[in-house]
Amino acid sequence: MDILIRPETAADHPEIFQLHALAFGQENEGKLVDLLRQDDCFIPELSLVAIQNEEIIGHIIFIKIEIVRPDGQKTESLALAPMGVLPKYQKSGIGGMLIHAGLAMAKDLRYQSVIVLGHKDYYPRFGFEPAEKWEIGTHYEVPSEYFMGLELTPGALSEVKGIVEYSAPFSQI
Ligand SMILES: CC(C)(COP(=O)(O)OP(=O)(O)OC[C@H]1O[C@@H](n2cnc3c(N)ncnc32)[C@H](O)[C@@H]1OP(=O)(O)O)[C@@H](O)C(=O)NCCC(=O)NCCS
Repeated sequence: MDILIRPETAADHPEIFQLHALAFGQENEGKLVDLLRQDDCFIPELSLVAIQNEEIIGHIIFIKIEIVRPDGQKTESLALAPMGVLPKYQKSGIGGMLIHAGLAMAKDLRYQSVIVLGHKDYYPRFGFEPAEKWEIGTHYEVPSEYFMGLELTPGALSEVKGIVEYSAPFSQI
């Protein structure tokens, strides 16, 4: 399988929307991606598409977030949110390729850590661990094992201890 992974371009936007609609079976995630692009949290280099035969078969986006301590001190981090692979290409490694490529690019861009709210049996294989390990929490009411973190720089989350604040688009969907 010949797969190219590259940052999205403006021409990709409709196809990315459609991809998420098919992957998730609803339009919310595509709408969220459209809103994230308009927000300060958007990082163009970290919205990546996987392409095979000129078709976009997977998409992943990492956006800027802040982890806020009780004393108000803020630490910048990234959130992986959301990612999708076209149903007929799932379970063939595309999601893994997108995560590896995204984490490598995030590291190149000098980001220190990544947070994800997602499948507890999927993300640990890429090194994510429950964020409660670092006393990092979320306003979302989810079982703690679904809310995970990963250090791109060893020790990056060790002193952070706070609540993840997502940008406005997350409360608009
Ligand atoms: C989750 C998703 C992005 C993974 O992409 P993918 O290309 O299928 O993943 P990979 O091929 O790299 O990995 C496949 C593995 O992930 C596992 N996996 C896929 N979806 C999973 C889920 N919902 N929960 C747990 N594991 C899952 C598969 O069982 C498979 O495991 P195996 O390697 O032991 O057989 C893709 O399945 C998808 O788009 N799903 C619908 C949208 C979604 O749920 N997005 C994630 C939101 S957090």
